Amino acid sequence: MTGLNKRLFITGASGLLGRAVLKKFVSDGWVVYGTAFSRASEGLHELDLINKDDVKEAVKQFKPSFVIHCAAQRFPEKVDSDPSAATKINVEATKYLAQVSDELGAPVLYISTDYVFDGTSPPYDVDAVPNPLNLYGKTKLQGEQETLAANKGNIVLRVPVLYGPVEYLAESAVTVLLNPLLNTDKPCKISNYERRCPSHVDDISTICFQLATKRIQDATVCGIFHWCGKQVFTKYEIVQQIAQVFQLTHLSHINPDSNKPSSAATPRPYDTTLNRSRLENLGIGQHTQFEVGIKTALQAWVK
Ligand SMILES: NC(=O)c1ccc[n+]([C@@H]2O[C@H](COP(=O)([O-])OP(=O)(O)OC[C@H]3O[C@@H](n4cnc5c(N)ncnc54)[C@H](OP(=O)(O)O)[C@@H]3O)[C@@H](O)[C@H]2O)c1
Repeated sequence: MTGLNKRLFITGASGLLGRAVLKKFVSDGWVVYGTAFSRASEGLHELDLINKDDVKEAVKQFKPSFVIHCAAQRFPEKVDSDPSAATKINVEATKYLAQVSDELGAPVLYISTDYVFDGTSPPYDVDAVPNPLNLYGKTKLQGEQETLAANKGNIVLRVPVLYGPVEYLAESAVTVLLNPLLNTDKPCKISNYERRCPSHVDDISTICFQLATKRIQDATVCGIFHWCGKQVFTKYEIVQQIAQVFQLTHLSHINPDSNKPSSAATPRPYDTTLNRSRLENLGIGQHTQFEVGIKTALQAWVK
C-alpha cells in the first residue's frame, strides 16, 4: 500500500483485541495512535472516551486516515451492574467518536459482537434481524446504529468470543477455562449447553487490517460484516480441548452441565454462529485451528 495515508487511531489498545490490532498495523508500517484508560502504559495514550473534549482534541490532532473502535465494557454482568456507565462507553462514546471521525473524513471500523443475536436461528447472515437477550448486546447494537448513522460508509464487524495471549486468565472467556483443569482438588460443573465459535485475536486483527486496507481504496466496502471461528464448542468441549493440548489427564472432577442456565443469570444466546461469506467473498478471512491457537495463548500458564 504505497502512497496511502496509513494513520490508525485505535481505542481500547490496552485490551485483549486492541493489543493484537495495534501490533498488526504497526508491523505493516502504519503510524498508530493507541488509546487506553486504566492500563495506559508506554506507547499508549491515556484517553477517557467519555470526555468529549479530550476525544475531539486527540482525534483532530492525530488526523487519522482510519479509526478502529475496540473500547467497550464487554463483560455482560458488569454492564448489568452499572447500565449507565456501560451506556456511556458502549453507546455515547461510540456516537461521539464516529461523529468526530466523520468530520475528518476518517472511516470507522466498530467492533461488535455475536451477542446482538438471540441465538435461536444460526447461522446468522449480516442482514439477519438482531434481538439481543442482555443489556450488553443491546448497548453494542446501539453502538452499531450510532456508527452507521454517523456515516453509512463506516464498518461494523461482529465477532464471537475471543481468545489469545492474556494478562490474566479471566481476561478471556476461553482462557479462563484452564482454571478448572489446574484446580484438580475442586469438583465443579462446566456448561455443556451454549455453543460458541471462538476466534483468535490474531485472526480478527488480520481481518481488521484486510478490511481497513480495502475500505481506504474502495468506499463500497462498508456496512455490516461477520466473522467467527470455524470450530464449534461448548465450554465443556473447550476444557476437553485444552486438556488434550496440554496432556492434562485429570478431568474426573469436572462435570459437564447440559442444562440451560438458570433464568436468574444474565441471559446468553444459545448458538450465535455467524455467516462469514460476505468477508470470504472479498477474499478476507483467517482461522487459526483452535488446538494451535490455544497452545500458544496458554503455554505460559501451564507449568
Ligand atoms: N472479548 C471477547 O470475547 C469479545 C467478544 C465479542 C465482541 N467483543 C468486542 O470486542 C471489542 C474489544 O474487546 P476486548 O475483549 O478487547 O475488551 P477488553 O479486553 O475488555 O478491553 C476493553 C478496552 O476498552 C478500554 N476502555 C474501557 N473503558 C474506557 C473508557 N471510558 N475510555 C477509554 N477506554 C476505555 C479499556 O481500557 P483500559 O483497560 O486501559 O482501562 C480496554 O482497552 C469490544 O468492543 C467488545 O465488545 C469482545
